[in-house]
Amino acid sequence: MSANPLSPTPPSSATLASAAIVDGDVEVTFSGSTLRSRFSPFWLRDHCHQPESLHPETLQRQVDTFAIPVDIAAERVVVEAGGSALRIVWRHDQSTSVLPADFLRLIALTEGRERAPRRELWDHAAMQGRFPTVPFAEVMDTDAGLLRWLELVDTHGFAMATGAPATTDATKAIAQRVGYIRETIFGGFWDFSANLAFKDTAYTPVAIGPHTDGTYSIDSPGYQMFHCLQHDGSGGENTLVDGFKVADTIRRTDPAAYAALTTTKVPAHYLGDGVHLRAEHEIIALDADGEPRQVAYNNYDRAPFRLPNGRMAEFYRALKLWDRLVNDPGYEVAFKLTPGSVLLFDNWRTLHGRRAYTGFRRLCGAYLNKEDFDSRVRVLRSKVK
Ligand SMILES: [Fe+2]
Repeated sequence: MSANPLSPTPPSSATLASAAIVDGDVEVTFSGSTLRSRFSPFWLRDHCHQPESLHPETLQRQVDTFAIPVDIAAERVVVEAGGSALRIVWRHDQSTSVLPADFLRLIALTEGRERAPRRELWDHAAMQGRFPTVPFAEVMDTDAGLLRWLELVDTHGFAMATGAPATTDATKAIAQRVGYIRETIFGGFWDFSANLAFKDTAYTPVAIGPHTDGTYSIDSPGYQMFHCLQHDGSGGENTLVDGFKVADTIRRTDPAAYAALTTTKVPAHYLGDGVHLRAEHEIIALDADGEPRQVAYNNYDRAPFRLPNGRMAEFYRALKLWDRLVNDPGYEVAFKLTPGSVLLFDNWRTLHGRRAYTGFRRLCGAYLNKEDFDSRVRVLRSKVK
């Protein structure tokens, strides 16, 4: 089965117990369950699983949605033998639609929406002694190992793969195991030391405060991978902060600041190297359920913008609170990346920074797109039971 959201694979097979026409809708119940759901006739015709309505391989819709009569009505509903499917005979043309029990149950339970990832918000104390880690070999050699690594990233916003060969080839291979390496103004797979190759502080040995990358990108990189191949010197610890944890703290303690951070579109830009990128993001962007979907924060790259003076003052107050918390050691984990440990983190959730360092330091890595990571997780979940 495909992972197409029109028909995701349900966890186990369902059996229909009954089907009846109630007030023009079709009400179904399921065996061994109290689940009961009413579907409208139009929706049922639009989601018919007969091959002429739904392509059996691609799960693309074949039915002409707009040719379905708006007042379509079911004449008869029948539960197929064994309860595996619902069969409906339509009054206007006596045609038949069939919808599998599994599909109806999944929609009854989820309305066709994906479950939000199981997130565990963390601060400094919560992350002590439980750094999410999977051996590199497991990630590379088994689907279960890769899924475990990606689910740890989903849960905590970052995870490490340990025991990797300290080479660019091995790093590229594990990145490509997750998804396509994203091309940006910095290239695709990158491999650099402090050489100011680009007009960005990442290419210098100075300390970098917690931030997310690509605030100037409409689709900021979803994930980032770091692998330190060599460091002959001191300092250079990497820091991570759970942006959703900080968001949660502000939501609970300062609703006015939370409102400013979740509703103010903050422009950001990247100028130089022959490009002028520009995008706008809320510091904390919310999804349709009002939960944080993406944090985007890099004060260096913020572009000029102005609000009415009162609102501007409120925004600056909220921004100062945000910056104070993301720089608070109580929210941070700090660690030295060593050759062999590949860090993968969610750039829409986890802020990253780096302490100043001395000596020669060589870091390689890549950006990955949000959608490709999510796709890999869906496919792996359908394969790994
Ligand atoms: Fe960065």
